Amino acid sequence: MFDFNKPLWMNWELNNICNLMCPQCRRNEIRDGELVKKDGMDNRDNSLETFKKVYKNIGHPVGLIRFQGQLSENVASKDFLPICDFIISQGTTIGLSTHGSLRSKDWWYRLGEVFAKDNSFVSNPSSSSHVFFCIDGMGPELGLYRIGANYDKIIENAQAFIKGGGNAIWRMIIFKHNQYQIEEAEKEATRLGFSDFVTCHTDRRSAWQPFTYKGKEYNLEIQDRFPEWNKKVTKNDEFRQGNTFEPIACKAVDENQFYINCYNKVWACYYLPDYDDLAEEQDWYREYHEDDSNNLEEKTFDEILENKFYEALQMSWDVESKCLSMCKRKCSVFSGITRQFEFASGRVVKNLSGGSIQKYFDA
Ligand SMILES: C[S@@+](CC[C@H](N)C(=O)[O-])C[C@H]1O[C@@H](n2cnc3c(N)ncnc32)[C@H](O)[C@@H]1O
Ligand code: SF4
Ligand code: SF4
Repeated sequence: MFDFNKPLWMNWELNNICNLMCPQCRRNEIRDGELVKKDGMDNRDNSLETFKKVYKNIGHPVGLIRFQGQLSENVASKDFLPICDFIISQGTTIGLSTHGSLRSKDWWYRLGEVFAKDNSFVSNPSSSSHVFFCIDGMGPELGLYRIGANYDKIIENAQAFIKGGGNAIWRMIIFKHNQYQIEEAEKEATRLGFSDFVTCHTDRRSAWQPFTYKGKEYNLEIQDRFPEWNKKVTKNDEFRQGNTFEPIACKAVDENQFYINCYNKVWACYYLPDYDDLAEEQDWYREYHEDDSNNLEEKTFDEILENKFYEALQMSWDVESKCLSMCKRKCSVFSGITRQFEFASGRVVKNLSGGSIQKYFDA
């Protein structure tokens, strides 16, 4: 169960804005063979003032804020830099995941200076504020998944961040088109001063068929260098079709982590928010899904947690008829596949990537 005697982790989405078109991102979909952005995007941002109010309404110590996003690029937020400055001044660590293409070198240098103020880096590098630069390939390969990204610009921005004193990690999702670049990318990461290099596998099997975007044809293919990962994804697909019930190990509970969406609504984890199909599975989910008042602008965190959703969710993991399909899919002990680091080459920043329930190796 969630432990309110320990600092909480928050996975926070500041906006719903992004300028890239990654084909497997929840923001986008393929309609009639063409990649398009879903409706209702790019219209929400949170100011520094709102952020401070919401942060205060949490009312519990916050150990880590992950700006990891479900459907956004947090760096696109107008006040992102002062928001980070504020968070670090409160003694909270930041973990950002970014495509790295937005903003100028000067802006990234200043962000590096802000992140360097988190002095836990000196005594414990693995727990300092850090940025995952999502660089899924070198040169033109990058743009085959990160559609709209420019490799040279990202590298320039990452170098400026490192020069400003920031802790940068190169994170690479493996596809067939970049699988031959892993070793070269790791060498480049070391040469450029990244503190770590991490490979990542995906279980998303959408967009594994040709599609077009702005008149150009794309054909994203599954990697075949790590067949044991593909086997595990197939096993999980079969498991999901069977809708079988297994012991659940909730990742959110394990990390003491909540998710705050761009409307400042609180959720137990980022796998669950606002899905209409989950609303059809359980009434307690539907009621919470339809009630927008559980946000940190209107209520405190403790008030929100009184909602029966949280109790019902935690009870649901032990009762087959109550358990959500997403919990089975992501967090079944034997068949969930969130523990992808087991298959990753490269080092992982320990304890900051779901590490306590995920296995990882040193390279
Ligand atoms: C939706 S993104 C939002 C954050 C930011 N825009 C970014 O891309 O880093 C959240 C996380 O999903 C990861 N991601 C994107 N496409 C993915 C895929 N096909 N499989 C697994 N993870 C993916 C991103 O690298 C990022 O760490
Ligand atoms: S950069 Fe991040 S938010 Fe933007 S489309 Fe890609 S995965 Fe989605
Ligand atoms: S999907 Fe369910 S079990 Fe998994 S982290 Fe989210 S709430 Fe917990």
